[in-house]
Amino acid sequence: MAIVSLKEVTKIYPLGKTEVHAVNGVSFDIARGDFISIAGPSGSGKSTILNMIGCIDVPTSGTVELNNHITSGLTDREITELRHKFVGFIFQSFNLIPVLNVFENIEFPLLLGKKSIEQKKRKEWTDYLVEEVGLKEWTKHRPNELSGGQRQRVAIARSMATKPELVLADEPTANLDSETSESIIELMKKINKDMNTTFIFSTHDPTIMDLAKHIIKLKDGLVTSEYRREK
Ligand SMILES: Nc1ncnc2c1ncn2[C@@H]1O[C@H](COP(=O)(O)OP(=O)(O)OP(=O)(O)O)[C@@H](O)[C@H]1O
Ligand SMILES: [Mg+2]
Repeated sequence: MAIVSLKEVTKIYPLGKTEVHAVNGVSFDIARGDFISIAGPSGSGKSTILNMIGCIDVPTSGTVELNNHITSGLTDREITELRHKFVGFIFQSFNLIPVLNVFENIEFPLLLGKKSIEQKKRKEWTDYLVEEVGLKEWTKHRPNELSGGQRQRVAIARSMATKPELVLADEPTANLDSETSESIIELMKKINKDMNTTFIFSTHDPTIMDLAKHIIKLKDGLVTSEYRREK
């Protein structure tokens, strides 16, 4: 069963008196546990597609299904719940909270849910995540004391805090050098393997794109190719 399914998805943005066709009838399925890149040049529709999968934006026509539920049929409350529990987000600009240290940034999503988690369990799980992303020595440091790659590691750990089934990362390596970029994708791949979390990341970089197991290439809002790499 697909965890994500796009069926003939189109997104048109009004732009003054004209309109922009950002996505033009795109269909694809993503299996649970997949590790997929959505690749394409600037303006090809990568962010628009990720935003529709993450329920940040809605299609103009066609449907996006998460776990076989059509997202446009959900209530606001269901979407909020889904975004909190089912989906994790990673951004190109990291989006960490500057006044919180590494531990606190990673723990933060756990303080937002309706059901409070016992402090001991919260600490254990956060410690595990800090370790998983290799930042044990940096637990008490604030984001401005970290490199870009370390910041993105914090963001990855934070995205995993609520144990989401799906993580969406829009150009997670856009602000990183090529070596750090590869290590960030490898870290996501390790989590994908360890926890069977489905990852979808976008990139315009062919080297980064090729680190995925399943690749969807976009151009002008259309899928130009889709293939899998066995490794
Ligand atoms: N809110 C908006 N209003 C109008 N047009 C938009 C809006 N968001 C995106 N677009 C247009 O839709 C098209 C696809 O944009 P999108 O941001 O999805 O591309 P992208 O592949 O993520 O590009 P980049 O690599 O630069 O991030 C572009 O032509 C863009 O200008
Ligand atoms: Mg984009």
